[in-house]
Amino acid sequence: MRLGDLRGRRVLDVGTGTGTLATALAERYACKVWAVEPSPEMLEIARGRVPRGVGLKLGWAEALPFKDRWFERAAMRLVVHLLDPPRAFAELHRVLKPGGILAIATFDPSHFAGFWLNRLFPSLEAIDRARFPEPEPLRRELAAAGFDEVRFERLSHVRELDRPTALSRIRGRHISTFDLLDDEELVAGTERAERELPDRVEVRLEWLLAVADRPGG
Ligand SMILES: C[S@@+](CC[C@H](N)C(=O)[O-])C[C@H]1O[C@@H](n2cnc3c(N)ncnc32)[C@H](O)[C@@H]1O
Repeated sequence: MRLGDLRGRRVLDVGTGTGTLATALAERYACKVWAVEPSPEMLEIARGRVPRGVGLKLGWAEALPFKDRWFERAAMRLVVHLLDPPRAFAELHRVLKPGGILAIATFDPSHFAGFWLNRLFPSLEAIDRARFPEPEPLRRELAAAGFDEVRFERLSHVRELDRPTALSRIRGRHISTFDLLDDEELVAGTERAERELPDRVEVRLEWLLAVADRPGG
């Protein structure tokens, strides 16, 4: 993710999960990173992974445990579909300094049609389309919370998984959409994957990056 001009800045990663983005930010950009995550289990894993100096806190985007105007940059990756946007964006506006920047990485609407698991789990596409925000509603929600100049960028990312990795992701229910599928579909899709997955599986991710300014004043 390109956030620009991060060196030495105070940066917040919201919904850090196991700390992947917080780690990359701290290591690549030498910024001062804090990260917040509501799942104690995820936070525990993050504690074992992030570099020293990254501050980790238990908390929700809708009630950020930080003082007003503390951060110069905030980021969240694959979290915006899990939030209550008005409350979370108001909180992000509160903790960012005037002139601060929020960067949201999520999936572009074009992502869902070609996702590698659709063939195995037929309900998955419609469930995810309904959960992930469209760009224009996202712009309106950010504007309603006081952000302006929302810019969108799109990035494609293609990679290959080998069959054991792909199967272990499916068996490990690696994305939260699995929690929304019924048991019958889960069992049938997993069995089909075991029968049909080739040695290598192409995974295409279509990213939407929304970058919003927290106006001065
Ligand atoms: C798909 S994971 C992404 C994790 C991480 N951002 C990454 O890119 O690796 C979504 C994360 O958002 C967290 N989450 C869910 N609801 C949240 C909320 N209301 N506020 C902050 N984080 C939330 C989940 O616990 C989970 O760790």
